[in-house]
Amino acid sequence: MARKVQHALLRKAKINKNDEFYTQLSDIESELQHYKNHFKGKVVFCNCDDPRISNFFNYFALNFKELGLRKLIAACYRKQEMNPFNAEEFKNGFFYEYTSEEGEKIKPSSTDIIHFKGDGDFRSAESIELLKQSDIVVTNPPFSLFRDYVDQLVTYNKKFLIIGNINAITYKEVFKLIKENKVWLGIRLGRGVSGFIVPEYYELYGTETRIDSFGNKIVSPNNCLWLTNLDTSKRHEDITLTKRYFGNEIEYPQYDNYDGINVNKTKNIPLDYKGFMGVPITFLHKFNPEQFEIIKFRKGNDEKDLSINGRCPYFRILIRNKRLQTKII
Ligand SMILES: C[S@@+](CC[C@H](N)C(=O)[O-])C[C@H]1O[C@@H](n2cnc3c(N)ncnc32)[C@H](O)[C@@H]1O
Repeated sequence: MARKVQHALLRKAKINKNDEFYTQLSDIESELQHYKNHFKGKVVFCNCDDPRISNFFNYFALNFKELGLRKLIAACYRKQEMNPFNAEEFKNGFFYEYTSEEGEKIKPSSTDIIHFKGDGDFRSAESIELLKQSDIVVTNPPFSLFRDYVDQLVTYNKKFLIIGNINAITYKEVFKLIKENKVWLGIRLGRGVSGFIVPEYYELYGTETRIDSFGNKIVSPNNCLWLTNLDTSKRHEDITLTKRYFGNEIEYPQYDNYDGINVNKTKNIPLDYKGFMGVPITFLHKFNPEQFEIIKFRKGNDEKDLSINGRCPYFRILIRNKRLQTKII
């Protein structure tokens, strides 16, 4: 590769590093096994996916019959960097519509591909037209556009299951959706997502990187999650509470700027505390909306970070035990 081109790619990679993390089939299978009942008769749209290489596309094409899908659409952005094929094809974005008529075929041939007039940006009118025809969107979208991406799904009232960075929980737009029970965390998170395939030019460093048996470069950032509005049974499981507040008050200090107590770990949430409690954001991974109510994120009554004796513990989510609101204990 000419030096100049390589430099340009590396520069771009530094800016948009996480936008070019490609999902492994094993991670998709591990998560999707929990949602199989949602797909019967549905149109699935993977709108940031080259059908020739995307493992999201592979997963749904391979499981098309078993899931009872009506149609699968994968649309690819012109500027996608992982392009093991002819770069000439990337003048425009393109998409592929897969139905049961494809039989056992998985990969599209060049005549199956339909070119967009534009670049295939998920926000383009052409891609939105496909979105409107779809029931469920499943993909790993570009991290740098995550807010816009979620906003579009909500605007078009779509069901979805997507990969994001754990930090996305703290975006105010996303947290609002979580608080309102319109969106929640999927099953796997952090080390539960084993790693992503990165383009050739990506420099591997550190212990969380490797080359797989196909020669793909894999990084394991351990900071990703699945975000969804598809129901799972896990979401209805109570967190088992074993600790007590009364008698152990010293372990649960009061905030300076909010009428509530600080709880350091989700497993330490006391079973006998009716009031407001600040818990770590990882609580959301165990959250059952029938058991707890989410009140607020991070800030006290003065809209400053929650503090104890002038010190801020970490980001906390204020919650309340719903079941204790009606029960006399
Ligand atoms: C995190 S990667 C994941 C790719 C694929 N969905 C997967 O999981 O393997 C995000 C992909 O979105 C593409 N992308 C970036 N900006 C986009 C946009 N505005 N519209 C559609 N796709 C975009 C990137 O080129 C990249 O292929």
